[in-house]
Formats: sequence, C-alpha cells, structure tokens
Amino acid sequence: VPTLRWTGESLRIIDQRKLPGRTVYIDCRDVGSLAEAIRTLAVRGAPAIGLAAAYGTVISALHHRGSSSFRDLVASDIEVLASTRPTAVNLFIALSRQRSILEASPDGGEAARRLLSSADSMLEEDLAASRAMGALGADLLGSRCSILTHCNAGGLATGGLGTALAVLYEAHRRGLLEMAYADETRPLLQGSRLTAWELRRAGIPVTVLPDSAAASLLSSGAVAAVFTGADRIACNGDTANKIGTYPLALAARAAGVPFYIVAPLTTFDPRRPDGSSIPVEQRDAGEVLRCGSSAVAARGSGVFNPAFDVTPNHLISAIVCEKAVIRAPFHEEIRLLTAGMACATFLSNAPGEQREGLCE
Ligand code: MRU
Repeated sequence: VPTLRWTGESLRIIDQRKLPGRTVYIDCRDVGSLAEAIRTLAVRGAPAIGLAAAYGTVISALHHRGSSSFRDLVASDIEVLASTRPTAVNLFIALSRQRSILEASPDGGEAARRLLSSADSMLEEDLAASRAMGALGADLLGSRCSILTHCNAGGLATGGLGTALAVLYEAHRRGLLEMAYADETRPLLQGSRLTAWELRRAGIPVTVLPDSAAASLLSSGAVAAVFTGADRIACNGDTANKIGTYPLALAARAAGVPFYIVAPLTTFDPRRPDGSSIPVEQRDAGEVLRCGSSAVAARGSGVFNPAFDVTPNHLISAIVCEKAVIRAPFHEEIRLLTAGMACATFLSNAPGEQREGLCE
C-alpha cells in the first residue's frame, strides 16, 4: 500500500481522510503541513505516524541546514511533531532516534543526510517486522478460518504491509483465510473505509460490520480468532489500541475466541509498568456529532470521544511481535525482548514524553 514515500524534497502521503472514495496524494513540504496531516489523520496508525515524523525531521533539516542554529531549529520542529498525537509510542521512539542523530551531526547538510538514511532504515525495519509478524501470526491458525479485526492495522497504518493485517495477508497467501470481518470502527470508520479498501485491493473477501455487531458475530462461532494492532503496550502486556478494542476483547473472552495483538517492538513502552498511565487521546466532539457533513446527534448533546482504550493483559491470548509470540505472564518476556533494545534507550530521552525510569 503506498502509504508514504520520500520524493527527494517532500513526504508524499496518501490522504487517508479521502479513502475509499478518492485516491489523493499530498506532498508535505514543511513540518507544519506534516504535523497537520498527522493531527487530522491524513496519515495515521502507530507505525505510520512514527515513520512520517521521522521523514518530517528530514524536511526540517533540509529547511534549516544553512542556519548556524540548525540544531535548535530542528529540535523545535521535533517538539511540534511530538505534540501531534499522544498515544502511539512509535511517534516518540522515532523522534527520539532522530534527535540523537541530529545532536551527533556536525553540520546541517550532514544532519539532513543522516536523518534521511535513518528514516529510510526505519521504513525497511518496519517492512521486515511486518513480514515476520505476518508469518508468526499465521502460524497460530490451525486450519482455514475467518478472522475479525478492528480499526485499520494494515499497510495504511504502517510502512506498507501492516501488523494485524499482515497476518491476514499471510493467512490468505497460505489459503487459510475464509473471510475477513472488519469492524467499521466508529467514529472515523477506519475499518470500513480503510481496512475493507486494503483487503479488497488484495482480493481478500471482506465483510464489514457495525462495532455493535461484533459480540453477536463472535458468539455465533463464525470467527476463529480476533487480531488487532496496538498503539502502546505496557510492560505487563496491557495494550492501548483504537477505541472499541477493549469491548471486543471482552466479547471474545465471553465467546471463548482467542484475542491476539500484533505489534512491532517499537510499539512497546518499557517505561510503563501497566496500562494505567498510558496517555489516551481525546478527540474533537465533531467526530461523534457528525457523520460527513450530516448531524447524527441532537443539538446540545455532550460528547465522550476517547480515540483509544486500554485492554487489560488478562484478556489477551498472545501478543505477536517480530521476534516472538508472547504469552502470559507477559512481563518477563516483554522485559527480555525490550531490554537493551534501542527503543528503551531512545524512550528515556523521548521528546514530548515524561522522563521516567524503565520498568524492572
Ligand atoms: O486513530 P488511528 O487511526 O491512528 O488509530 C490506529 C489504531 O488504533 C491502530 O489499530 C494502531 O495504530 C495499530 S496500526 C498498525
């Protein structure tokens, strides 16, 4: 999926706000327009916003390379990018990695070159992680079956292949996928607009359902497993993902259907002992009050619109990352997988994030 591409002077992104009706690309040539694209979900999904922000630092360095204070100017653009969305930790890991490179660069031109090479590496790492997660996740399926997913954890949410959807793509390739069920994912419809678009493009049969129909589907026995992505995973396995993931996990548990999270190690936050301190983004009331340009709530209604919820670890059957399938008790394996990892070091210095110690 052509989620994002560096053109040599700008970051070209597919405008996900317009899908599935129109395929429109935006060239982000300055940090302000890229930050706005992230904030308004033109580019979205935890790994994709990390990658977009990494390329944003290249845009900034190219812009400021001639200035004697290029380091301060790029650092201030990094803070702008870090302020766009609070929940997906991939954003902070990517920016933290870029900031270390900026600090070690002798001049603006060299900083731009090194930041670009680092952003390109992150994109390659993302694609490699997706492939590995797809294979490990598909290994969990015993026989041909149907799978339910929530939101969009596909190519559009990553560098081009996906996390949860990488499993569906691989299952399809192995002839194991009967039907993909996609929750529509109110209020912004990432499931019906984006997941269904991606899966249909790949020739995969997809059935869209209202979020409120998921429990009925699960209890009917039509689905063998649920796979979703994640925006941030705490040390004990508690997982923040798109709003509606927690009730889906509850319904899967009640129906006896395994519930899997699929996420690369750049989605793990080794500083959060559990999910209680994960920052949950609250979004604009208009997203709930309107659908497109039509009002769908009575004038004067109040709105509760958290973009994410946190699923407690005891509802998660396993977490699939690029290195392993992690099962309860999650804490020890997550500690081993993230110990000494670059992301732990980067995070202790992450822009826009609280400075906290790593969990033991
Ligand atoms: O608000 P969004 O669309 O950015 O939320 C995206 C999700 O919740 C995804 O499930 C998550 O980022 C995982 S993407 C591989």
